[in-house]
Amino acid sequence: MAKYHQLTVNEVRRETRDAVSLRLEVPDAEREYFEFLPGQHLAMRATIDGESVTRTYSICTAPRDGEIRVAVKRDPQGVFSTFANERLKAGDVLEVMPPEGSFVLRFSPDNRKHYLAVAAGSGITPIMSMIREGLAAEPRSSFTLVYGNRSAQNMIFREQLEDIKNEYMGRFTMVPVMSREQTDIGLFHGHIDGDKCRELLQHWIRDDVDECVICGPEPMIQAVSETLREAGVPRDRIHYELFTAPGEALERRRQRAQDTSIDHSMVQVEVRVDGQRYEFELARNTESVLDGGMSVGAELPHSCKSGVCSTCRARLVEGEVEMDVNYALEDYEVEAGYILTCQSLPVSSRVVVDYDQ
Ligand code: FES
Repeated sequence: MAKYHQLTVNEVRRETRDAVSLRLEVPDAEREYFEFLPGQHLAMRATIDGESVTRTYSICTAPRDGEIRVAVKRDPQGVFSTFANERLKAGDVLEVMPPEGSFVLRFSPDNRKHYLAVAAGSGITPIMSMIREGLAAEPRSSFTLVYGNRSAQNMIFREQLEDIKNEYMGRFTMVPVMSREQTDIGLFHGHIDGDKCRELLQHWIRDDVDECVICGPEPMIQAVSETLREAGVPRDRIHYELFTAPGEALERRRQRAQDTSIDHSMVQVEVRVDGQRYEFELARNTESVLDGGMSVGAELPHSCKSGVCSTCRARLVEGEVEMDVNYALEDYEVEAGYILTCQSLPVSSRVVVDYDQ
């Protein structure tokens, strides 16, 4: 099982008024744990006002840059993001898990592909890593980035993207879409929804899209991926990562726990982690394996608890669970028996889950 490493933040750089990027120093002896693919993320833990807080942030640098940097946008209600934007400074230490996540692009110098990237707000972070790595790794490939923001001032990495445009002239096109700022070109004003995507595909984006990566809120992901499928881009060439955690799953779970017509009888659960076994009972269809395991003292990896980050991934070795949502595991991982334990409610009378596999 992956473990937290103590990493020093060696730079806190202000990117916009409400976003910073953090450069993490990885000691030579721990480098092997922090190799990453473009698009992956890190779970980070800090003690803030006496409370342990874990959040996941995507890496914005490319593997070939030789540094690990994440961007953190302040969410007014966000404990970690406010801490990172207001109090964190160079020299502070964070607990950081090795990179994870299957929202990745793998590049090969022989490829000649047109990648379409669609990002909203801080959804640019993993996409930035992909663009930087892809343009350098594949000299004959090109990227089109559709990047939604409220205004130019809110655009994270605006200057870096301008630099990329100059460096890879002809291979990188940026289409900024602003919701609260008028632009010279009407098409660039508004939100990235199905209609906007359709218009851009008709008038602005080359239609030879080989792969598409999308990162942002759920409605945008759904609208863009549906429009791309209508336009003939095969499903397996459309990759996405949800940037905001959905609240509906929690609400659904709360309602299900209260529904007396559903079987809530107790089931036996065994959790294996770090070579240890924890046995406990859990009400069927009610609580997640992750919450149940933590309530009996198991130290289980987790971050978003919303089915987005995959930090809580483990293998189901016996029994049956139902996952509320799964925004993180690929189909092949589910077929191989992997589950998101934060989303998995036991439904069979005995369930065994192994975090060490
Ligand atoms: S903790 Fe993030 S997917 Fe389970």
